[in-house]
Amino acid sequence: MKIVPAHLEYWLRDYYFTVEIDISCSGVENFSFGELRELFNITPDDLDRIVLRDSRTLGDQDLRTAIGNRWGNGKAERVMATNGSSEAIYLIMHSLLEPGDEIVVLDPAYQQLYSIAESIGCRLKRWRLRFEDSFRPDFSEARHLISPHTRMIVVNFPHNPTGASLTLAERDELIELAAGAGAYLVWDAAFAELTYDGPVLPDPGERYDRSITLGTLSKAYGLPGLRVGWCLAAPEVLDRLVRLRDYTTLALSPLVEHIATRVIENGDLLLQPRLAQARHNLELLVSWANHHREFVSMVRPQGGVCVFARVHGVDDIEDFCRQLVDKYSVLLVPGTSFSNPDYVRLGFGCSTKDLTAALSRLSEHFHTYKQLQATTPEFNQIAKSA
Ligand SMILES: Cc1ncc(COP(=O)(O)O)c(C=O)c1O
Repeated sequence: MKIVPAHLEYWLRDYYFTVEIDISCSGVENFSFGELRELFNITPDDLDRIVLRDSRTLGDQDLRTAIGNRWGNGKAERVMATNGSSEAIYLIMHSLLEPGDEIVVLDPAYQQLYSIAESIGCRLKRWRLRFEDSFRPDFSEARHLISPHTRMIVVNFPHNPTGASLTLAERDELIELAAGAGAYLVWDAAFAELTYDGPVLPDPGERYDRSITLGTLSKAYGLPGLRVGWCLAAPEVLDRLVRLRDYTTLALSPLVEHIATRVIENGDLLLQPRLAQARHNLELLVSWANHHREFVSMVRPQGGVCVFARVHGVDDIEDFCRQLVDKYSVLLVPGTSFSNPDYVRLGFGCSTKDLTAALSRLSEHFHTYKQLQATTPEFNQIAKSA
């Protein structure tokens, strides 16, 4: 298997651990373990009782029940707990796809959602989200792309990086299209509960048995370091994933499972304050963007905590982002991580204090960078060869 490097992960590895302010991430502000212990009353005795033995392949039963109750219509038998939803994506693609299969993917998208399939030898059909359409998915295009040859449709709404989402009626139409083609519908719901205008879209599994829904504690719950995700699917599909898991991660840690269960049973204690902060931050960001129209244009996101902002007149977006790190210690993601060099992904899930400071530094960077670009003819040449 030959797989292309995951551009975003390389970018983050270079800078994430050293910058002062991170506005690159697609999740909300992280929680510390101390905060979890306090919020969920996790005592030292609770932790001492955990025996670090092998856990169950599909996940501890209490954890599966908690996930099923919160996100899966109470159906624990449809739950597989995974080491982040990225493990679920890997298992799904490798268990259900074969070389030559046709799959429909969003473009742009989180790279794992298409590069693994590509590495298997699948043929990708891209359902494009365009800035000119405010990133609204065009269903006439979807109808054209999806056919009886389609093996799998992979979507993520609210969407990383654009923040686009669907109405409930559009979600239903997508299910109809998948059912008409007999295709798997992979529904990445990493940001499902981070919505601003529309409803939280329910699990398609309630209506379509060949749907596979992904979830995670990494984004809306501020716990990317816990590495807990899940997929909701028919038990026959989970059986196929287990076959591959037996050769890879085997299971989760009982310690992690215990903490995740406690968190999920009262998930709103994490979700609601971060959602309120994100709403507030979004208004700050919109107002900042309105004042910086000569530099950026952005579409107001319907969900998630990032925007895919179009940057005007910057010739080398990676150089621009690198200089932002070097001079201002602020991290963005260049659009090249999403195969769109005219954009940056800007996350607003951080603390309001960090966002305010980062935007002010970004304003300064835009001014000086553009001045330098305009007044130094060799600037671009130097930047490119640096
Ligand atoms: C859309 C989407 N799905 C899945 C993931 C994987 O996240 P994790 O493995 O932390 O659950 C990410 C991470 O950025 C993502 O953006």
